[in-house]
Amino acid sequence: MTTKDFGAIETDYAFFMSHATEAKSDVEEYARKLEGFAEGRSNIHLFDFGCGTGEFSRQLLETLAWPKESLYLTLFEPVDHQQEIAAKRLSRFSDHAIASLGEASFDQRPTFDVIVSNHVLYYAENLGQTITQLLERLDSEGKMLLALAGHENALIKLWKVGFDLLNQPIPYFVAEDVEAVLATHDVCVSKSPSNYQLRFPDNEENRWKILRFLFGDYLRQIPRKEILQQFDQYVQEDQIEINTFSEHFIVQLNPRA
Ligand SMILES: C[S@@+](CC[C@H](N)C(=O)[O-])C[C@H]1O[C@@H](n2cnc3c(N)ncnc32)[C@H](O)[C@@H]1O
Repeated sequence: MTTKDFGAIETDYAFFMSHATEAKSDVEEYARKLEGFAEGRSNIHLFDFGCGTGEFSRQLLETLAWPKESLYLTLFEPVDHQQEIAAKRLSRFSDHAIASLGEASFDQRPTFDVIVSNHVLYYAENLGQTITQLLERLDSEGKMLLALAGHENALIKLWKVGFDLLNQPIPYFVAEDVEAVLATHDVCVSKSPSNYQLRFPDNEENRWKILRFLFGDYLRQIPRKEILQQFDQYVQEDQIEINTFSEHFIVQLNPRA
């Protein structure tokens, strides 16, 4: 599938993050799923795949409040400067050096107790291979937490309209694709919806920021008027208000863990 450069749309993604309750809902859902996980463990190795600037994991680790001496963090993010920002931002949650995928420290620690990949797998080049590789890195007693939106999500519906206007299928994966790939593995998967709201002052510039975040480079080819109009259905007085949901997947190799 197509890659997407989040370096080029950094401020648009930040606009989305600061006007949506998505991260807060995702954190609450993950924290529920990880309740009690730290009890009795002297070491927890957590891997954040597609960490961006680490803002999401900052909120998650603040909520989890796991002991700094127990927590080891490994990050992977294709936008190099974002990974550097993430490593600085998250360093206060661990007494240990933050590792990145591919470093010796990663090779010495082949499996992780927790793998988090929050709204990332849309952009995998090969979803089947990526999920297989992540599962190979999951400890037998560990948990992998994935969030993605599916076809019923309002923003995925915007993708559908935009890519229909370009006469092409959505070039990214969605929650239903992840669910189908997970079903081919011998793992225990539980799925739950997480509701959130996107709300921002309604003007063309703000609509365009969300569209740039969603479509990246494709946006310049999409008929401007038609795609901007898609927000009309969400107008509430002077705001755009979108209430929608994503899917959360908790994946375990051993369901008793
Ligand atoms: C929607 S952002 C989510 C960032 C962060 N996980 C969060 O929740 O805020 C998607 C992230 O996935 C990263 N990404 C894109 N393609 C990727 C790939 N093939 N493998 C891993 N990460 C990727 C992007 O650079 C971006 O930081």
